[in-house]
Amino acid sequence: MSTSPTFPCSYCLLLLLLVAALLASSSKSAAAAAADRRSLIANGLGMTPPMGWNSWNHFHCDINEKMIKATADGLVSSGLAKLGYVYVNIDDCWAEKTRDCKGNLRPKKSTFPSGIKAVADYVHSKGLKLGIYSDAGYYTCSKTQPGSLGYEEQDAQTFASWNLLQDIDYLKYDNCFNDGSRPTIRYPVMTRALMKTGRPIYISLCEWGDLHPAEWGFNVGNSWRTTNDISDTWESMISKADENEVYAHLARPGGWNDPDMLEVGNGGMTENEYVVHFSLWAISKSPLLLGFDVANATATRAVAHIVGNEEVIRINQDPLGVQAKKTRMMGSREIWAGPISGYRFVVMLLNRADAGDDDTVTAYWDDVGIPAKSLVEVRDVWEHKTLGRAVAGNISATMPPRSCKLYILKPVG
Ligand code: GLA
Repeated sequence: MSTSPTFPCSYCLLLLLLVAALLASSSKSAAAAAADRRSLIANGLGMTPPMGWNSWNHFHCDINEKMIKATADGLVSSGLAKLGYVYVNIDDCWAEKTRDCKGNLRPKKSTFPSGIKAVADYVHSKGLKLGIYSDAGYYTCSKTQPGSLGYEEQDAQTFASWNLLQDIDYLKYDNCFNDGSRPTIRYPVMTRALMKTGRPIYISLCEWGDLHPAEWGFNVGNSWRTTNDISDTWESMISKADENEVYAHLARPGGWNDPDMLEVGNGGMTENEYVVHFSLWAISKSPLLLGFDVANATATRAVAHIVGNEEVIRINQDPLGVQAKKTRMMGSREIWAGPISGYRFVVMLLNRADAGDDDTVTAYWDDVGIPAKSLVEVRDVWEHKTLGRAVAGNISATMPPRSCKLYILKPVG
């Protein structure tokens, strides 16, 4: 007599139905995942926040091909390019006010007489990348040149074809003088047009945070402005950092929150304030786009210890790509923290008081996400010093108003 168990037929049927259902649901979710992947702008760019320079903060419309080339030279000769600052981004005001008879954008003759292709060639010959600027409206914000609304494919082709192999690498796409339709309608048109050119072009959405671009930007661009324009003051800078922080959980490799370009070196803030500015941008995984006159060697030397701090740059470029958050706010004393690769953490102690005596800011390990009883190795990335002993419980610093300390913490026991 056979000893193998026998199942009633209804069990077999149930089992079969279950397996079939499982198979169907897993192939459905595989299909959904594939569809999701297809809807991404799979240009492979922005796996870490972009680094480079942009003409707007320092020069506004006063730009020309000579100074763009001199900026490329400056990035190389100062060593900043080697540290990762490779994008040379031309902002507004590079084109003529009207299109040519075929509807093409035309580089401004008086300021870019050799054309953008020649500038691209020059910038690329230095091992750098070229960025350009347009607008999802009828004019750019300066109103000195046409926007791309209604001309997305044509302009994308222009950007991708100024030189057969090496053209535009980055497009900042602004939001002025639009037709009132939602950015979620206008921006993807340019994204699709750029994708169609076959050239990987970094897409920087400059929609100022109007419609919470952090919530939809990942499928449309490689970064998205979360704020209005920065200016070279403490109040402006710190408010942009605050507005940007709200969306920290939505930043990730391939898509970053952008609180606007750096003002370090433009002269409107103190040394300590610029250190806070650069620290906040670095830990927030913001694009690090220099906004001072990089062609001026003296100006560059004056801020090289800030924007050239490799330890801070490495935090920004960390492969984990997690944006730091405010983990504790005690009046004007704040703790910003986030994980970085290798089971390490970045923590910023910030005294954001506007005036007054020095103040002590303390971060406890559990404010940072480290088990409270851990012993921790502490690296001060502005002092370039590792504390001689592992630290228990918390890290504290006393500092003047509008200044910060920035540490990398590594639990060691
Ligand atoms: C807008 C953008 C700025 C800059 C100017 C140019 O204000 O937000 O970053 O590009 O336009 O006109």
